[in-house]
Amino acid sequence: MTFIVRRASPADAAALPAIERSAAELFRLDPALTWLADAEVPDVEQHVQAIEQKCVWVVESADRQLAGFLRALVIDDQLHVEELSVSQDFQGQGMGRALVLAAIEQARRMQLHAVTLTTFRGLPWNAPFYQRLGFALLNGQATPPHLLSALQAEIAQGFPGERRCAMNLPLP
Ligand SMILES: CC(C)(COP(=O)(O)OP(=O)(O)OC[C@H]1O[C@@H](n2cnc3c(N)ncnc32)[C@H](O)[C@@H]1OP(=O)(O)O)[C@@H](O)C(=O)NCCC(=O)NCCS
Repeated sequence: MTFIVRRASPADAAALPAIERSAAELFRLDPALTWLADAEVPDVEQHVQAIEQKCVWVVESADRQLAGFLRALVIDDQLHVEELSVSQDFQGQGMGRALVLAAIEQARRMQLHAVTLTTFRGLPWNAPFYQRLGFALLNGQATPPHLLSALQAEIAQGFPGERRCAMNLPLP
């Protein structure tokens, strides 16, 4: 299936909350994480602000439907991925991978030193997926402060800390 990945414009924001909610349905596969499928997501106004201030990409299907997005921001010399979501109907077609590759490409163009994120260790569409793209698990002192803060904030929101991990893709 053909699709395109492009930088988001403010007009895309209206579609993004529904995409994030649909994507999160996948967490119902894990009985301990079903609450994530029901969790609040950023609203349209927050997405507009992010599109104006951060790095947001969307993926558009062949029939011009918005199917997914990736939101990231530059922290120090790293591009940190805050959110990656692909709607249920479009999952498993390579769109998630294409969004991550777009972010990596942008980080290279900006001469940043790494792409970072936090994710679930054991879910097949989380850490193992990023590992196949070259991301490495970070432990202890190797974990930059912004990732430690992100992990702490997640625990405060109710995420199971022992199942979360920080990862980075160093860029030469
Ligand atoms: C993560 C997510 C964006 C991937 O989107 P996608 O369009 O399905 O991704 P792709 O089709 O490119 O597949 C990505 C990889 O995950 C694997 N994968 C995707 N869905 C999967 C599933 N339901 N079960 C097992 N593996 C799965 C694929 O095998 C693929 O691996 P590969 O690229 O090494 O072959 C999507 O699953 C999603 O929105 N999940 C809910 C939110 C989430 O977990 N976001 C990431 C937070 S860090």
